Order: sequence, then structure tokens, then C-alpha cells
Amino acid sequence: MKTAVVYYSMSGNSEFTAKKISDKIGADLIKIRPEKAYPDKGIRKFIWGGKSAVIGDTPKLLPYEFDADKYDEIIFGFPVWASSPAPPIKSFIKENLSKISDKSFSVFACCMGGGAKKAIDKLKNYLFISDFKAELTLIDPKDKPSKENDKKTDEFISKILN
Ligand SMILES: Cc1cc2nc3c(=O)[nH]c(=O)nc-3n(C[C@H](O)[C@H](O)[C@H](O)COP(=O)(O)O)c2cc1C
Repeated sequence: MKTAVVYYSMSGNSEFTAKKISDKIGADLIKIRPEKAYPDKGIRKFIWGGKSAVIGDTPKLLPYEFDADKYDEIIFGFPVWASSPAPPIKSFIKENLSKISDKSFSVFACCMGGGAKKAIDKLKNYLFISDFKAELTLIDPKDKPSKENDKKTDEFISKILN
């Protein structure tokens, strides 16, 4: 079973988790980035990113390597923006949906505190699925390390490996 962790991260929390998961399960990391980077400082980051998420934007992505045929399983990882997956994830799915619809899907969402469930439900809609194999919600795992985050991540990894 070959797994890809497809993720976007603005400030490193989702990347921290993507790397932790891929290290433990031996998955490939597929980092996606928008062609035009979002502002990542001050209030502008919330205004631009938030607006892009609310209007359901699908920003153009920088080139990435992803050969769908190589994988049986995809784990999506993203920061929650305005109770939605950060928009580059929607772009990736739009570009690849027909090639990935036979895969098994799991998800992790990083947030400051709220909206992750809604964001995960939106991702289900993008993928036309009713459930993920495994789901994980973390509070800023790089910036606010906690036993709770570690425990949930270990449980998620066990579920993926079973
Ligand atoms: C534009 C924007 C919108 C956000 N919206 C939410 C939100 O709705 N709920 C929440 O709990 N955190 C929200 N956050 C916080 C991030 O989801 C959170 O800090 C996450 O861990 C950042 O992940 P990253 O470091 O991988 O970018 C938002 C952050 C940004 C930049």
C-alpha cells in the first residue's frame, strides 16, 4: 500500500504534521503551493486567505510532481481557513479528481480552535465521499506542542497502518 501525503501549509503547522506522518508510515510528501503566495503576516493574511476561502477560490498551483497511479491512499493535510480547507487543497482536487477517485482518503486539519469539522465536511463534498478512513484535527501542532496533539496523531497513524 503506497501513500501520498498531499498538503498545503502557510506557517508550518500542517507541514510539521505532514512530515511526522510521512516519517512514521513511509509515505511520499506532496507539497502544494499557490503560484501567487498569500500574504503571511499581520491582518492581511487573514483578510486575503479568509476571502479566498469564503468565495471558494481555486488558485493556480505551482508545478508539483504527483503520479496518481503510484498511490492507493491519499492523506490530505491543510490549515483551516474560515472553516474551510485552505484553497490550494481545492485546486489540487479540481486538477486531479478523475485520477484519484478510486483511492482511500484520510485527512488532517490544523486550526487555532474552531471550524475543523466544517472544513473536513467540505473536503468530503469536494471528493464526493461520505467518510474518511481516518480523520485528525490538531490545534497549531508546531506552535503549541501538546500531549493531546501527540496522542491524537499517534491514534491517527495507527488507524492508517491498520
Ligand atoms: C486566512 C486564515 C483563516 C483562518 N481561519 C481559521 C478558522 O476558521 N478556524 C481556526 O481555528 N483557525 C483558523 N486559522 C488558523 C490556522 O488554521 C491555524 O493556525 C493552522 O494551524 C495554521 O496552519 P499552517 O501553519 O500549516 O498554515 C486561520 C488562519 C488563516 C491564515
